[in-house]
Amino acid sequence: MPKNLLLTRRQALQLGLGACAGLVASLKSKDIYANLKILALDDPSRDFTVSQGGSLKERAAAKGIIYGAAGRYPDFVLNPNLTACYARECVLLVPEWSFKWFIEWYPKWPVANHPLRPSPESFDFTAADWMAKFAQTHNLLFRGHPLIWQVSLPPWFKETVNRQNAEKFMVEHIQRVAGRYAGKMHSWDVVNEAINIYEGHPDALQTSPWLEFLGPNYIDLAYRVAAEADPNALLVYNDFGFEYEDTNSDKKRAAVLKLLERLKSKGTPIHAFGIQAHLSGRATSSYKKLRKFLSDVASLGLQIMITELDVTDEELPSDITVRDRIIAGVYEDFLSAVLNEPAVKTIITWGLSDGYTYHTDFHPRSDGMPVRPLPLDTDLKPKLAWNAIARAFDNAPNR
Ligand code: G3I
Repeated sequence: MPKNLLLTRRQALQLGLGACAGLVASLKSKDIYANLKILALDDPSRDFTVSQGGSLKERAAAKGIIYGAAGRYPDFVLNPNLTACYARECVLLVPEWSFKWFIEWYPKWPVANHPLRPSPESFDFTAADWMAKFAQTHNLLFRGHPLIWQVSLPPWFKETVNRQNAEKFMVEHIQRVAGRYAGKMHSWDVVNEAINIYEGHPDALQTSPWLEFLGPNYIDLAYRVAAEADPNALLVYNDFGFEYEDTNSDKKRAAVLKLLERLKSKGTPIHAFGIQAHLSGRATSSYKKLRKFLSDVASLGLQIMITELDVTDEELPSDITVRDRIIAGVYEDFLSAVLNEPAVKTIITWGLSDGYTYHTDFHPRSDGMPVRPLPLDTDLKPKLAWNAIARAFDNAPNR
C-alpha cells in the first residue's frame, strides 16, 4: 500500500471517531428529519369543537350508524365507573377476550378471566355469559369475536387437534358457542384474519391449523355451521391492513376481495366484512384506495363494519396536546372517508379508555409515557379523539 495512505494509529482512531461522529450526526439528522415529519402531522389550527350534547352512540344513531366498543370481562367486573361509560357511549359491546379459545391469565390480575376452552372436552362460559348479561341489562347489541382464528388457541390444542379430528373440533366449537347465544347476537366474526400476503400461500391464505387440517374449505364450512347454529346473527369476515395507499395494502385488499368474491360465488352464508382499522398516528393517507375497496366490497352485497378502530400514538411526540391533536386528526379523517360509503353501518373502537388498551403491552411508547389511542383518557374523560369521532358522526351522511 503506498506510504502516504498508511495511517498512524492515532489518525485511524481520529478518522474512526470522525466517521462515528458523522454517522451519529446523520442518524441524528435522520431522527431530526423523522421528528420534523411527525411534528408536521400536527396542525394547531385544526379545530375539534363539537356541537352541544349527545353521546357517541346518540350522534351515530342520528345518522343510522351503530357505535360500540370492545371491553374485557376482568375490567368490567372490577370497574363500575368504566362500565357506566360503555352504557353511556355505546350501543354495541364486543368482548375483547371472552369468546377467544384461550387468553392466558396473569397472577397480578385480581379476577380470573375464565378462558372459554380450558380443555378439549370443556367450555367455560363464565366470562362470556357475564358479558352477554351486561349487554342485555344495558340494552347493548352483542357481538362475538372470533369463532375461528389461528391465534389465542389453548395450550392443549397443538397436541390434541389433528387432520382426523379437526373438523369435529371446529364444528363442535361453533355449534356450542354460537348455539348458546343464538338469537342474542348482532354479529359474529366467524373467521378472523385468514389472509396473509407475506407467506406466499396460494390465494394468500394464512398459515393456520384449520387450513393445514381441513384445506381452504375450512372457511366456507365455518360459515355454514355458524349460520345453522344462529340464523339471526350477521356473519362477518374480519381482517386488517386495508387503510393505506402502499403496495402491501394493495395486495391485501386484492387478496381479501378475491376471498370474498369466492365465498359469495359459492353461496357461503357471509353477510358482512369487518375492517379492523388499527391505525397509526404517524401515517397519513388520502384513503383513496380504501374508498374504492369499500365500494368494491359493497358491490358484493356485503355490509361493512369498522371493527377494531384505534390510533396508536407510538413514536408520536411526548407532548400530550400535540399527540392528542394528531390522533384526533387521524380519527376524523379516517371516519369521514369510510362513512361516505353507505354500506358502512357499524363503527367499533377497540376499547373505550386509554386505561384498558392492548397497546399498553403491545405498542408501548419509547418514552415510557402511557399510551393514548382511544376516545376516553385513563380518568374516563373524553379527549380530542372523542370530539373527532363525534364530529365524524355529526357530519356523516344519513344511512
Ligand atoms: O396484561 C398482561 C401483562 O401483565 C403481561 O405482562 C403481558 C405479557 O405478554 O400480557 C398481558 O396480557 C395480554 C393482553 O393481550 C394485554 O392486552 C395477554 O397475554 C394477550 O393474550 C392479550 O392479547 C390479546 C390479543 O388480541 C390476542 O388474543 C389482546 O388483548 C387483544 O387486544 C388482541 O386483539 C386482537 C383481535 O382479537 C384481532 N385483531 C387484532 C387485535 C390486536 O392484536
